Amino acid sequence: MYVLGIETSCDETAASVVKDGEHILSNVIAGQSEIHSLYGGVVPELAGRAHIDHIHAVAYSAVKEASLKFSDIDLIAVTQGPGLAGSLLVGLNFAKGLAYALKKPLIGINHLEGHLTAIFLQEAVAFPYVALSVSGGHTDLYRVDGFGHYNLLGQTRDDAAGECFDKVAKMMGLPYPGGPVIEKLAKTGNSTAHNFPRSFLQKGSLDFSFSGLKTSVKNFLKTRLNRDGVKLSDADIAACFQTAVTDVLVGKLLSACKQEGVCRAVITGGVASNGALRQRAEKELNRHSINVCFPKPIFCTDNAAMIAIAGYHRYKEEPVDLKNAFELDAVASLVL
Ligand code: KG4
Ligand code: ZN
Repeated sequence: MYVLGIETSCDETAASVVKDGEHILSNVIAGQSEIHSLYGGVVPELAGRAHIDHIHAVAYSAVKEASLKFSDIDLIAVTQGPGLAGSLLVGLNFAKGLAYALKKPLIGINHLEGHLTAIFLQEAVAFPYVALSVSGGHTDLYRVDGFGHYNLLGQTRDDAAGECFDKVAKMMGLPYPGGPVIEKLAKTGNSTAHNFPRSFLQKGSLDFSFSGLKTSVKNFLKTRLNRDGVKLSDADIAACFQTAVTDVLVGKLLSACKQEGVCRAVITGGVASNGALRQRAEKELNRHSINVCFPKPIFCTDNAAMIAIAGYHRYKEEPVDLKNAFELDAVASLVL
């Protein structure tokens, strides 16, 4: 079964063909960071327009790279939400038109479900597992008991961790997206030069909060002086900030695994491509006999292969027909 996945929820126009829910035949992604980096963050109107410019070529390339024709596609899976309304609409309407023209079924997929199941693009993980989905829009902990069986354990009460990386980078005059830039800078910095606050909220809570950390960095940048009166470099600040974020993410993931009595964890979403987070999580969770795995960086950030694989499994559970295509609507705040 050939599934064409289409993803346009934020600032990546992506299409991918996945065969039988496991063989990735193509994975095409057209990014827009050069457009948004001018503004230090994603500009929704510009993102929607760029999706319109790219969607046709991206979908066409995905099918071509898979050595197929559009008529060979058996199912189209498209991100329905959550995301930027204008961006979602481009992918959804393109997918609707394609489904109509090809007379093929269309299934709407929750973007978060894509991130939660992205690990299956490279390995089959046994259920249940605890997933930390951490990106520019979300910082969520889920217990995953099977495809379609997700139980939310905790989420951010304010900023997402990726958003915090992006905003801190912007305050430091660094380009968007901030995550990869901060990670690179942090490699040469001293992560113990200053202690930024770690917000664990009340005891037992699996929720997150990153807005206090962001404000703390903002205030620190006014003088850059640590408690010993030493002026910190960008690299030091990046390293201290990154350590504060990873401490909280890994700490909460560990607590979630313990609470659920689950010994498998997956970290996914754009921030999961962060090497320091990966190393820290592996060290800390393995110490507690919890196995942790991560999708490859290309499957951590937004992509359509994860939408195709989620679509495949959802379709197996509840097949849809062409009629479904006309009822689908984009939902900017779609819940899982
Ligand atoms: O999953 P994603 O591609 O899009 C959303 O659904 O948001 O995640 C993008 C986010 C951005 O905030 C970006 O700064 C962050 O992931 N990110 C990183 C790294 N690579 C991307 N954050 C920290 N370290 C990285 N290496
Ligand atoms: Zn995402």
